[in-house]
Amino acid sequence: MALELALHKAEGKTVGFVPTMGALHEGHLSLIRRAKKETDVVVCSIFINPSQFNDASDLEKYPRTPAQDTALLLDVGCDILYMPAVEEVYPPLLKLPAPPDLGYLAKPMEGAHRPGHFEGMAQVVRRLLDIVNPEKLFMGQKDFQQFTIVRHMLYQLKSKVEIVLCPIVREADGLAMSSRNVRLTPEQRQLAPLIFKILSGAKEKVHSHFPKDIMREALEQLSVHGMVPEYFDIVDGHSLEPLDLFEDTDYAVACTAVNLGGIRLIDNLILKGG
Ligand code: PAJ
Repeated sequence: MALELALHKAEGKTVGFVPTMGALHEGHLSLIRRAKKETDVVVCSIFINPSQFNDASDLEKYPRTPAQDTALLLDVGCDILYMPAVEEVYPPLLKLPAPPDLGYLAKPMEGAHRPGHFEGMAQVVRRLLDIVNPEKLFMGQKDFQQFTIVRHMLYQLKSKVEIVLCPIVREADGLAMSSRNVRLTPEQRQLAPLIFKILSGAKEKVHSHFPKDIMREALEQLSVHGMVPEYFDIVDGHSLEPLDLFEDTDYAVACTAVNLGGIRLIDNLILKGG
């Protein structure tokens, strides 16, 4: 990858970067398409980063479909696929920089349920950015907290990389596309679109309800048929602080995670601004 990329850079081409963990679906491909529109050369990385998995069995069960991924990337016109080994990303002799201070952003929601996850994620994104050195980084709104943390990290590092937020791609019934969806049983798959329904319902209540009442009702509605909501939070989209009043911000986002038979599904919806 290094030589090919260096040649493109020498020709003055701009580089767009889409980091992934593989098991690609339309959500990932939408990021590649967006990158193709905005930059000359698109690099996609596939690297299942061990340091962001706090649960060893989740890492083990993470789907791996390299042949299918390669075919999809070729089809969508991705220029360079970077699929490094763990030793390439974390060479034993390389001293990694101290993790950036993620502050409050890494504490609520996913941060509270997956200790160490965001530190590991930020570490690998920083490392991959050092390797690829792109002009633009494309990330999905699907992982809204992740996006917010990476944006904050780039700001802290005074990085010149521009981060682009790409909208969530959903199945026809509203379920946000995720590599984890293939692990749902047919019954769980039928139930899963409820998450987006409740998020959409929350959006309709913005002008008539307080955030705390929407949150309470959503948690009740999501506790059905073995679905266990881990959180349903309405936060300020910049700081991720919980919102008391919608009037307090120009950017309100509802974020949720539910556990369905041991499979964690996350989703979110921008309720105001954005
Ligand atoms: P992964 O879960 O593979 O996701 C890679 C990128 O695809 C992320 O930016 C994610 O937000 C985006 N994405 C996933 N599903 C999407 C959907 N339905 N619609 C739009 N975008 C979607 O996120 C990671 O990998 C890792 O944490 C990573 C950033 C690669 C670091 O290891």
